[in-house]
Amino acid sequence: MTTGFFNSGQELVCDGVPLAAIADAEGTPLYVYSAPTIRARYRAIDDAFDGYPHAVHYALKANSTFGIVRLLRSLGSAADANSVGEIEVARRAGFAPADIVFTGVGKSQDELAYAVPLGLKAINVESAGELDRIEAIAQRLDAAVRVAVRINPDIDAGSHPHISTGLRINKFGVPLATAREMLASMPARPALTLVSVHVHIGSQITSLGPLGGAAAFVARIAGELRRAGQPLEYVDVGGGLGISYDGSHVVSPHDYVTALVAAVRPTALPIVVEPGRSIVGPAGALVARVIDTKPRNALSEFVVIDAGMTELMRPALYDAFHRIEPVRPSPGDPRAYEVVGPVCESSDVVGRDRILPPLEVGDLMAILDSGAYGSAMASNYNRRPLPAEVLVDNGSWQRIRRRQTIDDILALEP
Ligand code: LLP
Repeated sequence: MTTGFFNSGQELVCDGVPLAAIADAEGTPLYVYSAPTIRARYRAIDDAFDGYPHAVHYALKANSTFGIVRLLRSLGSAADANSVGEIEVARRAGFAPADIVFTGVGKSQDELAYAVPLGLKAINVESAGELDRIEAIAQRLDAAVRVAVRINPDIDAGSHPHISTGLRINKFGVPLATAREMLASMPARPALTLVSVHVHIGSQITSLGPLGGAAAFVARIAGELRRAGQPLEYVDVGGGLGISYDGSHVVSPHDYVTALVAAVRPTALPIVVEPGRSIVGPAGALVARVIDTKPRNALSEFVVIDAGMTELMRPALYDAFHRIEPVRPSPGDPRAYEVVGPVCESSDVVGRDRILPPLEVGDLMAILDSGAYGSAMASNYNRRPLPAEVLVDNGSWQRIRRRQTIDDILALEP
């Protein structure tokens, strides 16, 4: 079954529901999500393990809107949380602490004091110092805390430099030599229970080589540890599977998981994966309205829409490409447009040099594949209220977040 956003006759729909109807009722800018797409994409990963023991820990950082997190929970997902805020969202959405891994390169003392007594599946440790701080808290509580060591495998993910994490020069994890020291110290530290080793080499990775290489890397370390008498409970291979923003070929969830299983099977250990984007990215569109048009140069026009870097930071931050489609394309010869947001920054360009049907003030546009790192990275810059968010399911939609008001924003300021 095809799910999500497609053209039905003359207009864009989400699972059969016209985006224009949703936008007219809810206003713009607006995030629209397809529940059937989230289900299908979650299952594509989960099913591909084909009986091999595993746990899918959805990475909340991609989209932690409560309704989305609850939906993932209902599908049987576990959670990857990167902050106390994300742990709280996960817990309130019904995840048990034992279903949550706590990742993140800079966990504050307050965050660790909160996390250590919770009984999480693991705290993925990012440095020798962090391991010491976790141990000290656990000793004070006279408890044992489950930890995994995040190793930096020095593998090039081949993704955008801002979202590649697996090279030595990146701030993430510890080099193998440091990891070996940390791992070797564990048996003498009763407050620490070593459960796993972890890698995450980056995001929006579109080829199998780096992903399979990272999995083989942790599998190798897990094998060494078993031979040294330090068996692990599972290996955590992180997230990072990319999606196709422009229609070009990317690794399928099936091939991705098959490669993970092939790499890890020799250890016989369960696999933890932390996918974010690959589950929710294609399941969301950002719907915006045209505010203005004006000439740009001899070849193109500006079209100013009511969504920009405040609602989808990816183009401004990574020069990321997102397909932009008119919700109800008007007839007429296509033209070249520079699609820009309303924010006071020249970097606030949503799409460069797009060939689109003629656009007029009031027209609706959909920025596709905005389900991951859209709402999650949105800001109040220019005092712009966060948009509403709706989840489409069963031929209708439900508001899962109301539009923020100026009063909401100012409520924090005496
Ligand atoms: N696990 C860890 C430890 C991570 O740091 C991340 C993402 C994930 C899992 C999930 O990765 P995914 O499956 O979504 O690729 N804002 C950027 C992406 C930043 C990714 C940060 N870490 C973007 O919009 O492209």
